[in-house]
Parts: sequence; structure tokens; C-alpha cells
Amino acid sequence: MEWPWEMVERDHVIQDPTSPEKIRLLGEYLRLTADSRVLDMGCGKAGPGVVLAEAFGCRIFGVELREAFAAEARARVKERGLEGLIDVRTADAASLDLEPDSYDVAMAIGTCFIWGHIEHAARALVPAVKRGGHLALGEPYWRSEPPQAVDREPFVGLPETVARLESAGVRLTGIIAASRDDWDRYESLHWRAVEEWLAANPAHPDAVAIRDRHRASLAAYLEHQRPLLGWAILVARKP
Ligand SMILES: C[S@@+](CC[C@H](N)C(=O)[O-])C[C@H]1O[C@@H](n2cnc3c(N)ncnc32)[C@H](O)[C@@H]1O
Repeated sequence: MEWPWEMVERDHVIQDPTSPEKIRLLGEYLRLTADSRVLDMGCGKAGPGVVLAEAFGCRIFGVELREAFAAEARARVKERGLEGLIDVRTADAASLDLEPDSYDVAMAIGTCFIWGHIEHAARALVPAVKRGGHLALGEPYWRSEPPQAVDREPFVGLPETVARLESAGVRLTGIIAASRDDWDRYESLHWRAVEEWLAANPAHPDAVAIRDRHRASLAAYLEHQRPLLGWAILVARKP
């Protein structure tokens, strides 16, 4: 069974442990203006993109794999009257041909996994950024070592995460970390969507598998992710 992200994230607008206020801070760190061109890889429902376009008037090219999220993104862009600023394409970000030195900013907010981890994302995206432009990459990191039995996934501590990013030839200029409230809100929206869906679809053939995975991920969040896993948007400048 493929995890039904469209159902699980039906109530999220920003699909990451962050907030509109923090996305506006990101825009300030990036020195966005109406002249800025922003690439948003894995743009989801254009939650971050809409905040940035409304606050700074920048142009955004969003790329999203899932048609349902891309359609919701386009609907949100239209509803906000931002069609002149935000363009959303349904595509696999990893197989897109990017024009070199063409964007002021390349973002992958919670989507570094598309290329592997933050180092791979940075190496894939930095050629598309102009000199003096920026990367903005959102990625988990371990705030403290998890117990041996815990799957570390591809994540490491914050200094190593920054080293991975900078190995692509960029220099860190900013960090916007998720608070515990950001994480709790992000996870709670998942839990409510799944519980409501299970209540409405008790005989669905995937109901047992969805309930089991949901309960396992809830337990992992409470046991080690909430105390130990961080998440941050790292901003880095291309010299
Ligand atoms: C954690 S969400 C983040 C969405 C958005 N950046 C945000 O912060 O609201 C990850 C997004 O990446 C999209 N995605 C996953 N693989 C992708 C790929 N290969 N190409 C483009 N988008 C992808 C997912 O469908 C999902 O919308």
C-alpha cells in the first residue's frame, strides 16, 4: 500500500513543521523582492509559495509530483489572485532540466529526500542558482543521538547537516528551526485526518494497514522524534 498522503495531509496548507510567520522570515533572510525568481521543488499545495508571493511580490516556479496537491496549489494561487506570480507544474523534480544560473533562490522545503538527503539536494539545485543567490532547504536533523534501535534515516546532527549543505559550495547564512509547537501542529493534523478517515471508512481494504502504520508513527513521534528530532530551513548563499 502506498501511504495516502493526499488523505493524511488533507488539512495541511504548509506541509511541514513550520508556520507562515517563519516562511515570511525566510523571505527576509533571502532578501526577496518583486524582482526575485524562486524555484520551489516539491511545492506541495503552494503553502510556502503563497506566503512569499503575497509578502514580497516575487515570482515562483513550483514543481509538484502529486496531481492532487498541484491542483490544490493552483486553486489556492487563483483564489489569492497570484496567477501572475506563481506557476505550478506537475512533474518529478528530480528529472527536471534546470537552466543554469537562472534563479535567485532554489527551495526544497521538506523535500531534500527527493534527491537523497540535504547534500544531494544542494548539489542538484546549486547550479540553477545565480551567483549571490541562495538555497533554502528544509531538513530534519538529530538534536541528540537517538537510541541504537531507532532508525536514524539519512539524518545526522545539525553541524553535520550544515557540513553536508556547504559541501555543495555554498555558505550558511540563516537557520529557521521548527519549535515543538510547529512539530505538534504538523503531526496533529495527520492524526486527526487519519482518525476521521478510519471512522468514515471502517471496511476499507487498507483500513487495518493505515491504522497500524499511523499508530506506529504516532508512537515513534512520542517516543523519540518529539524529544530528539529537529527540523530546520537552512539558508545558504552561493558565492
Ligand atoms: C513534506 S511535503 C512539503 C511540501 C511543501 N514544500 C511545503 O512545505 O508545504 C513534500 C512534498 O514533496 C512532493 N514530492 C515528493 N516527491 C516529489 C518529486 N519527486 N518531485 C516533486 N515533488 C515531490 C510531495 O508530493 C509533497 O507535496
